[in-house]
Amino acid sequence: MQFSTKIFAQADINNPKLLKSSLVTLLSQASDCLVLAYSKADLDALGSAKSKTGILLELDRLLNGSVMHANLVGDLDALQASTCILRADPSWGKSGVKVKRILLVSLGDVSSAVARSLTAYSKIARATLKQLSGGSIQNALWFIPSFALGHRADFIAEEVRLAIQYAGDQAYRFGVRHPSMKFKAKDKADTFAHLIFAGNEACAKELKSAVSEGAAMVEGMNLSKDLGNLPPNICTPTYLGKTAQGLSKKTGLKVEVLGRKQIEALGMGSFLAVAKGSDTPPQFIVMRHQGGKAGEAPIVFVGKGITFDTGGISLKPGEAMDEMKYDMCGAASVIGTMYAAALMKLKKNVIGVIPTCENMPSGQATRPGDIVKSMSGQTIEVLNTDAEGRLILCDALTYVERFKPKAVIDVATLTGACIIALGHVHSGLFSEDEGLVQALTNAGHASLDTVWRLPLDAAYHEQLKSNFADVANIGGRPAGSVTAACFLSRFTEKYKWAHLDVAGTAWKSGAAKGATGRPVPLLINYLLEQK
Ligand code: BES
Ligand code: MN
Ligand code: ZN
Repeated sequence: MQFSTKIFAQADINNPKLLKSSLVTLLSQASDCLVLAYSKADLDALGSAKSKTGILLELDRLLNGSVMHANLVGDLDALQASTCILRADPSWGKSGVKVKRILLVSLGDVSSAVARSLTAYSKIARATLKQLSGGSIQNALWFIPSFALGHRADFIAEEVRLAIQYAGDQAYRFGVRHPSMKFKAKDKADTFAHLIFAGNEACAKELKSAVSEGAAMVEGMNLSKDLGNLPPNICTPTYLGKTAQGLSKKTGLKVEVLGRKQIEALGMGSFLAVAKGSDTPPQFIVMRHQGGKAGEAPIVFVGKGITFDTGGISLKPGEAMDEMKYDMCGAASVIGTMYAAALMKLKKNVIGVIPTCENMPSGQATRPGDIVKSMSGQTIEVLNTDAEGRLILCDALTYVERFKPKAVIDVATLTGACIIALGHVHSGLFSEDEGLVQALTNAGHASLDTVWRLPLDAAYHEQLKSNFADVANIGGRPAGSVTAACFLSRFTEKYKWAHLDVAGTAWKSGAAKGATGRPVPLLINYLLEQK
């Protein structure tokens, strides 16, 4: 899917003097479908004898009564996100109309603040995209100022990025981008190919940057979804390393992939304890995007890359175990975010770090009761080999100290307990840095890829006490997500840190089984908000 912009300098539908000429310009574009929005007030005006203006009335005059007719047969509704398609008839040509269809979308009663919220807008965007897809529409011209009625100008960027995010979600089909991924030959996207966002002078700058940011984000999300959905016999640690290196050739990201010997040399005894049970070698991936000044402190993302989690010797039950191929979704989201940041030439220094291996049972595997030494020097009593995510992350968190980061955010499908706490709605957010909590919460609201804060205080650390080592790797059933985060926090004392538990949000189960691409939108919006 392709996204682009088209600027009509003078088009302004909020100025009654310019309304007619704006519509004439838009209608004269060769497009499969022009998308325009109307409010409840516009619809009221259409039905009233006294009104002389409003987008629907003006449009009706230009379309020889087509809008009145649609209203007469009951196709127009004031209810927010209701839609109506007007199809070209021969009489339109006389007025110079070139668009083949007009999709009218209701903004509802825009005098209410709720109707102007981003959540309300997201419903409108979804309804619009649904109408545009599945039929013969190939390209659409979406006039953004008609949706921005009563909105702040800076809101437009969020709205446009969100629309692109949704369009990307709608168009995504597993494995259509890379020939090596074609497992289901016929799975083709049944959606339109080109979405053009139209604007005017007043929003041109915001619009252009939002479209290129949104398009880059969709690329990052698609890659992240593909990596998550790939089967675990193909998406191995080596495959993740090769993928990262491939991006380096494509975008100029600097990528380093360390193998077992180098990981041993770094003293990552905890990470290696997880990798031990598998015949496939572990990899430690470092990706750098240098878009900022040379000495500028980087933002660092760390992603959990367990390419398959059997539980190890503490073997998981068989039901839905296939879904543990998704245990590398943290890693996939970091790779996707780095790719998007590079594509949008973000003017910041960003580093992505990924410890990746399999968690398998074997004669070589770590046993419950084993004690291992982490890179930080702290010893860990492994009481459950299925709590492996924290064991690979803790060494990565120690490793990133060398970057003197501005902030470190790790992303992990860390605990089943997080699904019990938050379901599949919000990702779990753990941090003691109020600034980071605020920034991530805001980024979640802007992308509707939301987070919910859970606690991380000293009281929970009690549960991780070990009689034989500095710390145990499990804290029992109560507050399982919190004790997992507490474990990680012991390795993050040198910098500002937040942990995202995406166990409930990174993929969907059941009939719609598939990776969601979350939290790429959250991380991209976070990066864009950093001044
Ligand atoms: N990858 C799992 C967490 C998980 C489970 C995510 C199910 C999504 C769905 C993680 O490695 C794990 O197994 N965690 C254990 C921790 C426990 C042993 C303390 C869990 O959640 O059961
Ligand atoms: Mn596990
Ligand atoms: Zn796991």
